[in-house]
Amino acid sequence: MERALVLVGAGPIGVASARAALDDGVVATVAAVVDPDDGARRRAGETLGAAGVPHLEELKLVGDQAVAIVAFSSRAGVTALAVCHLLRSGFHVVTTCEELADPPENVREDLIATARRAGKVAIATGANPGFVMDRLPLLLAGGSRNVRRVAVVRRVDTSTRREPLVRKTGYGLSPEAFAAGVEAGGLGHVGLDVSAHLVADGMGWKLVDEREVVEPVLGEGGKVAGLHQTFDGATDDGRSLHYDLTMAWGLERPEDRVIIDGSPHLAVAVEDGYPGDEGTVARVVRGLAIAPKLAPGFYRPSDLPVWG
Ligand SMILES: NC(=O)c1ccc[n+]([C@@H]2O[C@H](COP(=O)([O-])OP(=O)(O)OC[C@H]3O[C@@H](n4cnc5c(N)ncnc54)[C@H](OP(=O)(O)O)[C@@H]3O)[C@@H](O)[C@H]2O)c1
Repeated sequence: MERALVLVGAGPIGVASARAALDDGVVATVAAVVDPDDGARRRAGETLGAAGVPHLEELKLVGDQAVAIVAFSSRAGVTALAVCHLLRSGFHVVTTCEELADPPENVREDLIATARRAGKVAIATGANPGFVMDRLPLLLAGGSRNVRRVAVVRRVDTSTRREPLVRKTGYGLSPEAFAAGVEAGGLGHVGLDVSAHLVADGMGWKLVDEREVVEPVLGEGGKVAGLHQTFDGATDDGRSLHYDLTMAWGLERPEDRVIIDGSPHLAVAVEDGYPGDEGTVARVVRGLAIAPKLAPGFYRPSDLPVWG
């Protein structure tokens, strides 16, 4: 039977992922685009040849072979509700929601139980979180023994990225407005701690001490060019994680670097950095392809097989 896709959230990531899934033959059609924004829904519907639906509750079932992309929020609560609704309606679901990459335990249990009852699969994936700061370091750490420290550094030139991401870095704001935005929760990268927790959890480390800092990177005229965000975590026997993320407009030397302090010592760099938007699309398409082959349940990035 031919597989149909429903897209929930018609932003740049959802639309590009749906397009790529069609192009790669992972789905045969896009049956519907769900988005409350009239303009975004209409544009995506035209591009993808899909019907537009303003709200998820109005979506009609499209058959047993249906898969869904959920790409509208970084927050676990609201996204988990949509994912569970789709699972109960007979869909396999792939979401780019950052917080769902390592959700609170009660949310994770709910997702697992709902997916198993429905006999379906839900996957949380992406580039970051989802790959470059968690799956990749975890894979590399598996090639070493006596690991004492993992350091993960990511430098992103946001002039190469989509507009919603640039907005989240505070580009163009005054330092005062940046500080207020971080305080209010609207600015900053959601998911640095998520990636660190996935790596710690994967290695069996219990972090007893954690610290996250977000500060502005200043550019021309003292305006904010982007952000510098760090996460440090330590176990009670002295092992540690250091995460260091810079996302700024025009940033020089973009790259990803992972350092595993163990035996052997590893230092691995992704030249020019892993492209976050293109990478996220690749991860979503991979998720759509693999979901029907997995046992029913909910999968965080680190729960997926290596080729998954
Ligand atoms: N893990 C990763 O590596 C990764 C990478 C890229 C993106 N992401 C995440 O993926 C999501 C999509 O990214 P994006 O840049 O495409 O986002 P975006 O530009 O914010 O687009 C989201 C779209 O979803 C709509 N929407 C809001 N609430 C909705 C709902 N309840 N149901 C359906 N649609 C709804 C929005 O409409 P309004 O404009 O009216 O709100 C908007 O059109 C974001 O949450 C982003 O943080 C994760």
